[in-house]
Amino acid sequence: MKNSTTQKIPDSAPAPSHVAIIMDGNGRWAKNRFLPRVMGHRSGLKSVRKSVEFCHQNNIPFLTLFAFSSENWRRPADEVSFLMSLFNKALKEEVAKLHENNVRFKMIGDRTKFSLPLQDLFDKSEQLTEGNSGLTLTIAANYGGRWDILNAMRKAIDEGVDIVSEEVLSRHMQLAFAPEPDLLIRTGGEVRISNFLIWDLVYTELYFTDVLWPDFDSGEFMKAINSYSGRERRFGMAGLRADGSSIIKEGS
Ligand code: FPP
Repeated sequence: MKNSTTQKIPDSAPAPSHVAIIMDGNGRWAKNRFLPRVMGHRSGLKSVRKSVEFCHQNNIPFLTLFAFSSENWRRPADEVSFLMSLFNKALKEEVAKLHENNVRFKMIGDRTKFSLPLQDLFDKSEQLTEGNSGLTLTIAANYGGRWDILNAMRKAIDEGVDIVSEEVLSRHMQLAFAPEPDLLIRTGGEVRISNFLIWDLVYTELYFTDVLWPDFDSGEFMKAINSYSGRERRFGMAGLRADGSSIIKEGS
């Protein structure tokens, strides 16, 4: 990936370790241009590339993108089919490049509903990149937060545990391999979680923007990071800055 000289997180600012994004607004972006909705998804893929580059350049180790929810199957058949071929094409064309750049690719969600060739592609992309130590790029596809919790619960029961504790469930959640997201970004103007990572987002800082996903570039990503860096994270306790240091002065 190229080095950018434009958008860099200053060394002193606390950067998130894990950013999750709900990529919304592709359809409206296309409609605003009198284009078919699917052109918005095609353009959205360019923003996916830009976001991966942004994380790579700024040493953000985990990026998780909501590409297809379990509810998205209800969209018109031609749009669903376009999205499937876009995933297929993107993975086929980009996975070698991701691998070259030391990116570890992961997929979360119920993959059994996808076509067998696509499932195979998900598996092979994960296997190829599993030893990589750079950015972990996770694509959530046919993912739902409630499904994730129920699925973890079923796995815990199958394991034969006596008590289903938070620790046991965490081990079986889809994002068990990653730290909890520090920052959730949602583009496209809606202000809700939409059944995304409901288990993992409990202490996550939320950032909503009206910018439509195809217009979300490194400048917009930096705005989200700047907003995050200025937040006070409390985790239910006394004040903590986003970098984890206490805001309570000594003696107070
Ligand atoms: C939401 O916009 C977007 C999606 C449901 C699809 C997002 C998928 C991509 C950007 C392609 C990603 C590909 C890979 C391989 C990660 P919307 O259609 O709901 O927009 P609207 O709210 O304006 O209608």
